[in-house]
Amino acid sequence: MEGNKLKTIEPREIAIGKELFAFLEKKKSFTDLKNVFLQLSTFDQKLQTQLFKFVDVLPSLKHKDSVAKILSEYIDESKFKVGFLVDFVSHLPIVRDVFKTSIEQLVAFLARTFICGKNIEEAKQTIAKLKKKNQFYTLDILGEVVLTQKEADFYYNKYIDLLQNIQELNISVKLSALVPQINKNNFEEKKLVLKHRLANLFRIAKKNSATVNVDTEHYETKELFFAVTKEVLQDPEFNDFDNVGIVIQAYLKDSKKDFLTWLSWLKLHQKKITIRLVKGAYWDYEQAHALQKNWAVPVFEDKALTDLNYENLVDLALNNTEYFRPAFASHNIRSLAYILKVVEAKQISKNDFEIQMLYGMLDDLKDYFSQKGFCLRVYLPYGELLPGMSYLVRRLLENTANDSFLKQGFIDKKSKEELLQAPSIKKTNLQIKRGFQNSPEIDFSLEKNRNKFKNYLNTNLEKLNAERICALIVAGKMQESFESFFTINPAKHDQVLAKVFKANIEDCDLAIKEAKKVQKDWQDVDLKKKVMAFRETAQELERQRLFFNMLLVSEAGKAWQEADAEVCEAIDFLNYYADSALETFNTNKLRSLPGERNTNRYSALGLSLVISPWNFPLAIMLGMTSASLICGNAVIVKPSSQTPLVAYEALMILLNNISKYCGSKYKAVLSFLPGSGAVIGDYLINHKDIACIAFTGSNETGMHINEAAIKARPVKRFIAEMGGKNPIIVERTADLDEAIPGVIYSAFGYSGQKCSACSRVIIEEEIYEDFKTRLVEAIAEVKYGDPLNFEFYSGPVIDQNAFKNINLYIDLAKKYGDVIAEGINSNEKGFFIEPIIVENLAADAIVTQEEIFGPLLAIYKAKDLDDALKLANNTEYGLTAGLFSRSPEAIEYISNNIEAGNFYINRPCTGAIVSRQAFGGHKNSSIGLKAGGPNYLLNFVLEKTITENTMRRGFADD
Ligand code: FDA
Repeated sequence: MEGNKLKTIEPREIAIGKELFAFLEKKKSFTDLKNVFLQLSTFDQKLQTQLFKFVDVLPSLKHKDSVAKILSEYIDESKFKVGFLVDFVSHLPIVRDVFKTSIEQLVAFLARTFICGKNIEEAKQTIAKLKKKNQFYTLDILGEVVLTQKEADFYYNKYIDLLQNIQELNISVKLSALVPQINKNNFEEKKLVLKHRLANLFRIAKKNSATVNVDTEHYETKELFFAVTKEVLQDPEFNDFDNVGIVIQAYLKDSKKDFLTWLSWLKLHQKKITIRLVKGAYWDYEQAHALQKNWAVPVFEDKALTDLNYENLVDLALNNTEYFRPAFASHNIRSLAYILKVVEAKQISKNDFEIQMLYGMLDDLKDYFSQKGFCLRVYLPYGELLPGMSYLVRRLLENTANDSFLKQGFIDKKSKEELLQAPSIKKTNLQIKRGFQNSPEIDFSLEKNRNKFKNYLNTNLEKLNAERICALIVAGKMQESFESFFTINPAKHDQVLAKVFKANIEDCDLAIKEAKKVQKDWQDVDLKKKVMAFRETAQELERQRLFFNMLLVSEAGKAWQEADAEVCEAIDFLNYYADSALETFNTNKLRSLPGERNTNRYSALGLSLVISPWNFPLAIMLGMTSASLICGNAVIVKPSSQTPLVAYEALMILLNNISKYCGSKYKAVLSFLPGSGAVIGDYLINHKDIACIAFTGSNETGMHINEAAIKARPVKRFIAEMGGKNPIIVERTADLDEAIPGVIYSAFGYSGQKCSACSRVIIEEEIYEDFKTRLVEAIAEVKYGDPLNFEFYSGPVIDQNAFKNINLYIDLAKKYGDVIAEGINSNEKGFFIEPIIVENLAADAIVTQEEIFGPLLAIYKAKDLDDALKLANNTEYGLTAGLFSRSPEAIEYISNNIEAGNFYINRPCTGAIVSRQAFGGHKNSSIGLKAGGPNYLLNFVLEKTITENTMRRGFADD
């Protein structure tokens, strides 16, 4: 020992890291790119985001004049020092041209930096340059969103072409490019097509000694893509074909499990493939998507955890080189140094692994690896800028994100020592979710969830039959009556689900009489007890989730995802109105002054009649009922005749909980009276003891009730949702990859039977033909059928009447317009009408003025944005509306002028979520305050304002 001095030995990976840095410092060619990102990093976060959004829209701008205009729209002048310049350039044509050119040059520069060529010829030149440096490549064809069969065929044929014509090709394939609309239902069918196509690519690759890597994309497709790859590889035809690669994303919390599952599979099948270890390219999306769905976030949320996991996976990969050829893809010098350290320690041969990097990223460092004899492979994307935009934006984000190694190293200039440290996990406070939370939908992209519901249906469907009883509930008591009818499955009209008893006038009278006896006391029941009854009902719905899903699929004809979303909404309504009652009734929002005390008191209206619709027979029914009840009213529910069973089952749960938490006498506050509108409906509407009517349904019925409510003395409170004729505007800068699926879902989800459904799409002239062609091709992928089968996008229309009615409108559409897409239309087994799209209708055509609950969509061409707005507002309704646009000015203009209660930008116009999108319309669509929002309960109460002069002989008591 040298005296007592202990020499600290530098960890090996740090020494290697320093060597890598030293190599880089000698080089200069990164400077251009670094300058661009350096410049970008001086902008604040908001400006950077605005610039990236601009870069995203740029290649789709058809008229070059709009470039400077859109740019100036994106840049918030008050925050951007060249704001004046933008203003200046947008007024002076010459300067504007120069500016426009420099922006285009910047984007062209970025494109050249990250995209190796516009076509295969240019890509080949890059390949040749790499070869000279002893560097290898894997090709990537740019393009992400594939909506139509034609587009999928285009990519598939391109892959085939490359594999056939370039010997020993190495290609990275995106499976999502091989089938249209990968994330939409028919998984099984798509899986078959994918397997067929991938097998064919493997076959050609095998013949031509090529290698096919299957890229890993979004989390929702990971399971499917791994399964497809395994099932194809399992075919004896590929026993001797190992030129295959897969990708594990270390940012995923399940990545270790994915790795180990692949390892055991490879062991079992005695195969060896390439495994590319990446951190993952879709971090922002995965996090936001999961948060919006209230799902567990699948990615680590601390960058250090991703880095640490990456290093653990490096160890695992290098421990198993018998089954894997590891390919380490990273531009993080610490991660790379760690890999080299493990390689060195384990004495792994340079032939047994690869280092991979993206084209345009850390190009200098690539030379280090190839010069030292490592196998260095460059990921080479090629293609046009428009389909390559998502790729380019991902690279921009990757280079500028605060957590990115490149930004920290080359822009923030952190010290080498700091950058090379082992990932250190921040002690994060566990994020405790507080306040109201939406019930998370089931993720049916996961096979285990699909199987669970499939098995449930297999064993429980038989319980829905003619023996099942849907009784009346008269003042809390179940009872049968002399008249009954059968509720049926609209997808198979000979299938009876239950026998439903009909209420008569005497039942109505009894329900009203008993409710009146307890309503006043019910109003005074401690709010906390009511809240507990609601919360317990919500929990019971959660426990019986699959049962209610089954009812909605069978009785309302909903596809699985739609059914489950409705159960979530019902749960949300119960919890949200419970929270809302505690908040609204326990706080006084009026101002008081010295000597003047102002308070608000709320009291119930009395007896409410809830008339609920068939299209949301659970959620809307429970929403209106629970809101009214928690305000102290007694409630009579008159369900829709098409869907009484699901309403009955839910109300039985609510009733039991009212009895359990508030006392059995309060069962009398709830009645359930199915029956004919003409007989009991009108009787109840006009009954003097009904103080409030909450209605969701057609405009015709709504207006009829409104008249009765106004004429009554005292007038009745009337709250109504009465549908719409909802437009979506597709503005010239719209991203059609988003607009087309957005329109399809809005117009044809649940066969267009939501009151929020889109029935008119108004497209700016400039992009009309492009939009129309892709929409018509994409719609061919939307399959309708019995929703018991998950494979279908949508199911039947609700009944024979609806079927007949929609067909009358279809006849009119055909007579006065031109049909551009049409599918099967048959009521032989169930009531099926596949999407129908029509153009060239007059602005005031009946078809585009009257509400039709069905999959009939009209498309219009608009001269400009004003014309589009005029067409959109040309209706007596004003429920929802949508806009697809990437122009901030257009977004602002339409937001200000559209006549709709719910306006959605760059997303579908259906699917309002409780507490996030309060729902209700303008014009003839709605009466009252919005459902699922903070003010809804005020619809169901009387508000009393009490003002007291608290001054006594000159002194105020507060
Ligand atoms: P760095 O160390 O800076 O890591 C950045 C990464 O960390 C982000 O990309 C993200 O994954 C993660 N991250 C960022 N913020 C985080 C936070 N707050 N918490 C947790 N993690 C956070 N990607 C993909 O998804 N599928 C694929 O098939 C491929 N294929 C591919 C091939 C090749 C050859 C390369 C080089 C790259 C890919 N990629 C990919 C892209 C790859 O995922 C991306 O380049 C890397 O994630 C960047 O990581 P680095 O180690 O270079 O940088």
